Amino acid sequence: MLLKNIEKALNDQIRIEAESSQIYLAMACWAEVKGLEGVAGFMYDQSQEERDHMLKLVKFVNERGGHAKVSELSEPNVTFNSFKEMFEKLFEHEVFVSQSINELVHITLQEKDYATHNFLQWYVSEQIEEEAMARTILDKINLIGDDKGGLYLFDRDIQQLTITSASIDTPQ
Ligand code: FEO
Repeated sequence: MLLKNIEKALNDQIRIEAESSQIYLAMACWAEVKGLEGVAGFMYDQSQEERDHMLKLVKFVNERGGHAKVSELSEPNVTFNSFKEMFEKLFEHEVFVSQSINELVHITLQEKDYATHNFLQWYVSEQIEEEAMARTILDKINLIGDDKGGLYLFDRDIQQLTITSASIDTPQ
């Protein structure tokens, strides 16, 4: 059984994951209309992953005797000044999500809810990966600067990154 304050904290995280999915969907659309198909594909995949993060929490809350809340979401940014700005926002957002997960983990320890604490370890690991990936991408974008040729190659490379991570995720 979930304590009410833990149920509320998990529901807040459900909203954050849903908003993350919308944020990356908006980034996918912006990249797509700008003609960068690789970046768009990467962002569509990220958006889907965030929806999966949300669903995993939804199922957990319902299975533990709580009630997962589907709430209204804030409207994401739909345009950006540059790809650099867009990836900076992605990185900042992932840092924010990590902080939110850490806070959630902290509450479960305070309340001695070890089942939820254990469940959240998956999210702790996931955030380490997501932050690392966002940082790597940002480093590459910073190297490219305003170079159009560099952006073209980056768009091609990020497609490869998406394919590689998809094949790692798929069970053999
Ligand atoms: Fe579900 Fe990227 O945090």
